[in-house]
Amino acid sequence: MSEQRITPGPSRRAFLRAGAAVAGTALAGGAAAQHGPGKPENLPPNVPDWSKSLGEGVAVRKYGSPSKHEAHIGRRDVSWLTATPESSVSFTPLHAIDGPITPNGLCFERHHSGIAELSPADYRLMLHGLVDKPLMFTLDDIKRMPRVNRVHFCECAANSGMEWRGAQLNGCQYTHGMVHSVMYTGVPLKTLLDEAGIKNNAKWLLLEGGDSAGMTRSLPLAKALDDVLVAYRMNGEMLYPENGYPVRMVIPGWEANMWVKWLRRIEVGDQPWHHREETSKYTDLLENGKARRFTYVMDAKSVITNPSPQAPLNHKSGFTVLSGIAWSGRGKVSRVDVSLDGGRNWRTAKIDGPVWDKAVTRFYYEFEWDGRELLIQSRAMDETGYVQPTKNELRKVRGVNSIYHNNGIQTWHVRKNGEVENVEVS
Ligand code: MTE
Ligand code: CO
Repeated sequence: MSEQRITPGPSRRAFLRAGAAVAGTALAGGAAAQHGPGKPENLPPNVPDWSKSLGEGVAVRKYGSPSKHEAHIGRRDVSWLTATPESSVSFTPLHAIDGPITPNGLCFERHHSGIAELSPADYRLMLHGLVDKPLMFTLDDIKRMPRVNRVHFCECAANSGMEWRGAQLNGCQYTHGMVHSVMYTGVPLKTLLDEAGIKNNAKWLLLEGGDSAGMTRSLPLAKALDDVLVAYRMNGEMLYPENGYPVRMVIPGWEANMWVKWLRRIEVGDQPWHHREETSKYTDLLENGKARRFTYVMDAKSVITNPSPQAPLNHKSGFTVLSGIAWSGRGKVSRVDVSLDGGRNWRTAKIDGPVWDKAVTRFYYEFEWDGRELLIQSRAMDETGYVQPTKNELRKVRGVNSIYHNNGIQTWHVRKNGEVENVEVS
C-alpha cells in the first residue's frame, strides 16, 4: 500500500462509529463476539431456560416480526441531512441483511411530504389524456387484472450523493442504503394503456402521486409499454404504507424518483411536463455549467456490505467471507470483481442466488485473512459490457457539482483490529 494515498472520511461522527467497537474472537469454535460470551447456566452441558417450559402457542403472534434480539437492526436517518422528517429519507441497513431481497420492513423510505395513509375503499386511479376512453380504476379493478411477479432494485438517484467530494459517511447503510430489492406483484402498465386505447400522437405519460406533495414525473411512452408495472404487493404482502400503499409505479432500472407512490393519476400526452422533479431536481450540474436532464437509467453499481464500518471483522485473522450486492439498470449483473488492495489486483467474486434483470445480485468472496490491513473494493459489470467506474473516473466526466447518479467504486479500509472506515484511494 506504499504509494497509495488513502483519504479518510472527513466527518467521523460519533453516532456512525458507535457500532465499530467490538472485541474479536475466532470464527471456528468461538462464541460470536458480537453476542458476548452468553450466560454459563444456559450453555452446554446445562439445560437452558428455553428448554424448561412451554413456549407461546400458535397464532399468538398473529403477524410475525423479528426476534427481540434483532431489535437494534432498522432503518436509520441522518438528522442533519434534511430540514424535516416529512421530506426526508431513511436508509436500508444493508450491512445487516443477506441474500438478494430486502425485507419489507427494512426498505429505505423517501417521502416529499410524509407517508400518505389511504383507505383501499377510497383508492382510485385515473387514466386520461390522449386516450380513446378515459378510465377510473378501483383497487379491486386493478387486482382483478392479469398480473406478474418481478424482482427489481429501486435506487434513489441521490444514493451515494454525499460522496461526490470525498468519503463522508461511515457505513454502507448511509453511503449506499437508498436502494432496496423487492419482488413486486402488479399489472403491466401496458395492460391499462391498452384498455384505454392510446392515441397515435401519444408520446409521454405524467405519473402523479396522491400524497400532499402530489409528486409528478414524466415517463416516455416507450418505457411505459416495455416493462413498467402498476404494483400493489411487495414480497407477497400488500405494499407497506411507506412504500406507496395501495399502489405504486415500478419503473425497472430507472431512478426511484419516478416510482411514484400512492399512485393517483396517469395522464397521456405528447411531450414531457417539465415539472419540479425533472428540472430543478434530478438533473446533474456539470463542470461547464450545463445540466444533464432525463438521466433515467441507474448505471451498474456495487458495494461490499460485510465487512463495512457498521459490520467490522470480529476475528483477528483466518477464513473470511466478504459479501456484497451489485445491480444494474441496464440488465443483469454479469460479473463482480473484488479487490483487497485498493484496486491493484482484482479477483472474480462468486455470485450466489438468482440473477434477475435489473435486480440486486448477491456476491461473496472467500479468503484467508492474514490479519493485515485491507483496502476492499467491489466492481460490478453488466450484460451490456458496462464496467462500474472508479470515483475519480466519474469525476473526470461529471465534475463534483452533482448530487445524483454516483455509481463510483467504494473503498473500505479494514484495520488490523477489524474496524472498518470509509476512505478513498488514489
Ligand atoms: N412518490 C410520491 N408520491 N411521493 C414521494 O415523495 N418519492 C420518490 C419515489 N416516489 C416519492 C414518490 C423518491 S425520490 C424515491 S427515492 C422513491 O419513491 C422511494 O421509494 P421508497 O420509499 O419505497 O423507498
Ligand atoms: Co429518491
